[in-house]
Amino acid sequence: MKVDDAPGLFPLLPVSKAPAPPFGMGYPVWSKNKALLIERYLHYFIMVTKHGAYIDGFAGPQRDNDVDLWSAKRVLEHEPKWLHSFVLCDLDEKQVAQLQQLKTEQPLRNREKHEPKRTISVLQGDFNQSVDEALKLSGILNRKTAAFCLLDQRTFECHWDTIRKVAEYRPQQKVELFYLMPIYWLKRSLAAVRDLEKLKAWWGRDDWSELQRMTTPDIGSLVCNRFMKEFKYQYVQAWPVRRSKTNSHIMYFMIHATDHPEAPKLMGRAFRKTDSRNFEDLGTMDLEEFLAKDEGLDGSPRT
Ligand SMILES: C[S@@+](CC[C@H](N)C(=O)[O-])C[C@H]1O[C@@H](n2cnc3c(N)ncnc32)[C@H](O)[C@@H]1O
Repeated sequence: MKVDDAPGLFPLLPVSKAPAPPFGMGYPVWSKNKALLIERYLHYFIMVTKHGAYIDGFAGPQRDNDVDLWSAKRVLEHEPKWLHSFVLCDLDEKQVAQLQQLKTEQPLRNREKHEPKRTISVLQGDFNQSVDEALKLSGILNRKTAAFCLLDQRTFECHWDTIRKVAEYRPQQKVELFYLMPIYWLKRSLAAVRDLEKLKAWWGRDDWSELQRMTTPDIGSLVCNRFMKEFKYQYVQAWPVRRSKTNSHIMYFMIHATDHPEAPKLMGRAFRKTDSRNFEDLGTMDLEEFLAKDEGLDGSPRT
């Protein structure tokens, strides 16, 4: 047997370019802060890109009584208003009415602040069906537009093939992704679902029952590795979103997938800032200075 034909020493171990997912690093970012975290990360994203498109597949508000923690609203209203294209989708008629209302409430662009002309598209329907239209409406195909997509499902609503469509839409400059992977209620929900086709569509293959036997960190690692292997993202990390300030159960993993080497570093910064609520002055923050600093994901100096 030639050396090249010999099996590898560890053929079953996943090869990953990303640093190990930061499980248990003590980030107590809690569920209520999810929208703040998304907004914070997107702030850094636009400070770097100076423009961009935002696609939200499951965009209706999670809580009617607390629209201040509604991601689509926070991102639309966030200053500076440099994102120029928004596509907001939801299945539910009432949720879509709220999205329409949010769209109409947006002020005219402020030319003095050099705000770009914005397009805001609201789509009603199953995002798994409308994903192609949403990507088209975002206008990113033929332009070097930075693009970001939020897939904030409750449990099993987002099909694996839908993530694939987003990832493969513009392979040369992939859409950056946040995918919410349920954890706290995952095993109970898996056991309760009778429609096995639904689980297969969600997980993209039929070995979803294996998740029942896996630990939370292993589930996070598996999803990250699948994003890298199947969707070809360079950097994928699972960020834990915990239940509350006083209850550290992991509710979801926020799976962050990107090809940009600086993006995981920005996400680490967003995590720390969101948790402490000790936000820096957004107007004066010098992001280039931060990016030039040799800081690790958790803010400690890189060794
Ligand atoms: C977890 S909530 C989204 C929360 C929101 N991102 C926020 O910041 O408050 C999930 C939303 O997805 C919607 N939804 C459920 N199934 C869907 C589907 N197949 N396609 C699109 N939207 C769906 C629900 O109506 C709900 O508004």
